[in-house]
Amino acid sequence: MSEKTTTENIPYFAAPTEENWSFQTGPLQFMRAAHKRHGGVCRISFSDREFVLLTGTEANEFVWSSSDLWCYRDSRGAFLSELGEPHVTSSDGEKHRAKRKLINKSFSVSSNIRYLPKIASIVRDHLKAAAEAGEKVALRQWLPRVITRFNLETVSQAAVSDEEFEILVRWQLHFISGVALSPQKQEAHYSLPSYLEDKKAAFDIMGRIVDERLADDNPPDDNFQQVIEAREKAGTPGTRDDLVNELYYILVAGIQNTTHFTITMLREIYSPAGWLDWLREELEDWDGYDAMAVAGMERLKAFTFEIQRNRPQVLTLPLLPNRDFEFGGYTIPEGTLCVYCPPFMHFDEQYFENPDVFDPKRFMDGAKFSPKHNGFFGGGAHVCVGRNVTLLQGPLMVALILKSFDLQDVPPSDTFLIEQSGGEAQTPCEVRIVPRATEPASV
Ligand code: HEM
Repeated sequence: MSEKTTTENIPYFAAPTEENWSFQTGPLQFMRAAHKRHGGVCRISFSDREFVLLTGTEANEFVWSSSDLWCYRDSRGAFLSELGEPHVTSSDGEKHRAKRKLINKSFSVSSNIRYLPKIASIVRDHLKAAAEAGEKVALRQWLPRVITRFNLETVSQAAVSDEEFEILVRWQLHFISGVALSPQKQEAHYSLPSYLEDKKAAFDIMGRIVDERLADDNPPDDNFQQVIEAREKAGTPGTRDDLVNELYYILVAGIQNTTHFTITMLREIYSPAGWLDWLREELEDWDGYDAMAVAGMERLKAFTFEIQRNRPQVLTLPLLPNRDFEFGGYTIPEGTLCVYCPPFMHFDEQYFENPDVFDPKRFMDGAKFSPKHNGFFGGGAHVCVGRNVTLLQGPLMVALILKSFDLQDVPPSDTFLIEQSGGEAQTPCEVRIVPRATEPASV
């Protein structure tokens, strides 16, 4: 009889590190110390559970090229439990590939760049209104609402009442803030009566939007319509629930992520390092209205690359192997809870000089953040579909703010405990938005 494989021979890396980091207080520092001591494989504990930690370029390449090894359905349980059966993962094989093909066009640069002028005008109106109100706004709550507003007028056009709007945003934010919790905490998080009520209402609203769209003889040519047409063309019209799932992706799935990205940029810009003046210098010649010009701003682009590199927002992703596998000289048994760090190589001196230093200038003069060394949006079969959306919308919102407004009381950036996407430690980021004296004249 063959012996059952165990993880016992895999070295255990205990917190705190010599520099006093634990996974909770400094996840990146902790993982880097673990890698330095044990190479790309070791056992660690957090949230009362033990994981096998896979780190380094080889680990990322391995994870991203072996999608059939991972039970995505089980390791990303929150998505399935909250979005229901139409949510597919690479564990669904062909179904997942087909879904990615159907939604590809809606998430392309060309489908999203066309809406930038409209988005800019909506964002500007919201900024003006917030400045006029004179009250502090919590960006963590305010930005997702601004994004959902412009999404409803651009990528997935639909009329919703103010009450419905609130429900959609509230449900999405509550849902996403639970995805990284342990199963026990997740169960409590998703069984709150107020959440369950919002969830039902949010699906009813999205279902109604789908019904109205299918009955519309003259539908808008937006990104949601592109999915419906892609489905027709492929001969897979899909069920109402499938379309609700796709509407969800386009309308609200990314609002928290783009919010977080934008807040991270703003916190760094308003740090004492002086990036505010550096970026504003570039904005001097901009009229504040030509949204398309933002994509050509070299400093803003370099800043956006450096934010992705040095301030990654998804630090770890869970993995659950469906069979024993070999990595780094060890056999890791089927069903072992594993975790990997997609942005680990952002801090590797082989690729980036002084990787701990936040320096956007490293990406000036045409230097690119090579996709090979960029794990900000994950990789492999599940690489983020919303990448283009965030990279168009986030810098545009930042440019609009810096050009015509000032933010007061921006909380300092947090270099150690980089706030995990969807985590519990996120600041509300309360700021006051005030007009700048040099606001551009409208054109
Ligand atoms: C800064 C912004 C964002 C970051 C850092 C980010 C990060 C990620 C990462 C790391 C993954 C891979 C997850 C995995 O392997 O399980 C992912 C997947 C995904 N992202 Fe994003 N994301 C961002 C923005 C967005 C936006 C704006 C949208 C929607 C408009 C979006 C929709 C999705 C979806 C639907 C998937 C799952 C893809 C699949 O299952 O094939 N993301 N994202």
